[in-house]
Amino acid sequence: MTFLDPALSTPELRCGLSLGGRSITKELDLTIDEWAGLLRLTEDLKAEKKSHDEVQRLRGCNIALVFAKSSTSTRCAFEVAAHDQGAHVTYLDPAGSQLGHKESVKDTGRVLGRMFDGIEYRGFAQENVEELAGSAGVPVWNGLSDRWHPTQSLCDVFTMLEHTGKASDEISFAYVGDARNNVASSLVVAGAMSGMDVRIVSPAGLRPSRSVVAAAHDVSPETGGTLMITTDPVEGLRDVDFVYTDAWVSMGEPIGTWVERLPLLADYQVNAELMALSGRADTAFMHCLPAFHSRHSEVGERLFRETGRSAHEVTDDVFESAQSIVFDQAENRLHTVKAMLVATLER
Ligand code: CP
Ligand code: NVA
Repeated sequence: MTFLDPALSTPELRCGLSLGGRSITKELDLTIDEWAGLLRLTEDLKAEKKSHDEVQRLRGCNIALVFAKSSTSTRCAFEVAAHDQGAHVTYLDPAGSQLGHKESVKDTGRVLGRMFDGIEYRGFAQENVEELAGSAGVPVWNGLSDRWHPTQSLCDVFTMLEHTGKASDEISFAYVGDARNNVASSLVVAGAMSGMDVRIVSPAGLRPSRSVVAAAHDVSPETGGTLMITTDPVEGLRDVDFVYTDAWVSMGEPIGTWVERLPLLADYQVNAELMALSGRADTAFMHCLPAFHSRHSEVGERLFRETGRSAHEVTDDVFESAQSIVFDQAENRLHTVKAMLVATLER
C-alpha cells in the first residue's frame, strides 16, 4: 500500500473522497480508503500552498473552534487552514462559552450547528465530542479527547510517509512511554489502518487498552499492519524507522500523576542511548508537542524543582538533534487539518 505514489499525481486534487458532512471523532470513523484519501489530499494541498497556488474551496464557511483545554498546534492549524481556504473562524476558549457550565454538550451542539458549517472540539471525555457530532448536524472534528487525537495521527502518518518516501506498509515506528494515552491510542489504530509495523514500548501498567488493541487487530488483516507490545526497548526499537514519544502526563490528569509515573517511566526516556537501540543513524525522532525536554517552560521548571529532572520523556539533546523531525511534523498539522476541512466541508 502506498499513499504518496508520484505516479498518482495529477494537477487535480486526488482526494476522490466523499466525506461531505461527515464528522471525524476518531480514526475509525473513516474507512481505510477514506484514511488513504485524506493522506493523498494532504499531499496535494501542501504542494498547492508551497507553490503559492492555493485555491480557496471553503469561501463563506464559518468554523467554530471550541477548546476546553489549552492548545498551540491544533488551534493554529485549524485557524491557518481555515484562513488559507477562505473560511472564517470563531474561537471559544476554555472559559469562553456556556458549554459545560450552564449548557449541556447536546444543547451547545444544536446552537452551534445552526450558525456554523463545522465545529472543532477539544475536550475531556470522548463521549462529549461524539455527542456534539450527534447533535450539531454539521461536521465535528475531534481536536483531542481523553481517548483519541485523530488530527494528530493523520499528521503523524503523513509525516512518516513524507520523511521516508517509503510505502506505508514498509514503515516501522516505536511509540515509547505512556501508551495508554490519547496519542498512543490514535497511533496504534492509525498505524494499523496504514499497514505499518507498530511497536509499543511501555511499562506493563501503561500498555494500550484492550479495546484499542482489538481495534488495531480488526483492521490489520486488510492492511497488513502488525502490532508488537513489549516492555523491552531493545526488542521494540530494533531497526525501526521512527521513535515517537509523548508527555508522561496528559492534560486532564492530576498534576500528582507525575510523581507516580516517574519511577515507572524513567527507563523509557528517549535519550541518545535509547535512540541507538534502533541500530540505525537515520532513525527519526517524533513528538506531538508540547515536549518536556528542558526547564524552559513554566511546567518544565516546576517539574525540575519537584523532581530534580530537567528532561522527562525526551532529553534535550535528542529533541534538538539532527534526527529530530518534530517541527516538520508540527507544520504538517496544518496540511492534514486542512485536508480534513476540505474533504468534509467542500460543497
Ligand atoms: N499536538 C497538539 O495537539 O498540540 P497542542 O496541544 O499545542 O494543540
Ligand atoms: N497526550 C497529550 C497530548 C497533547 C497534544 C495530552 O493529552 O495532553
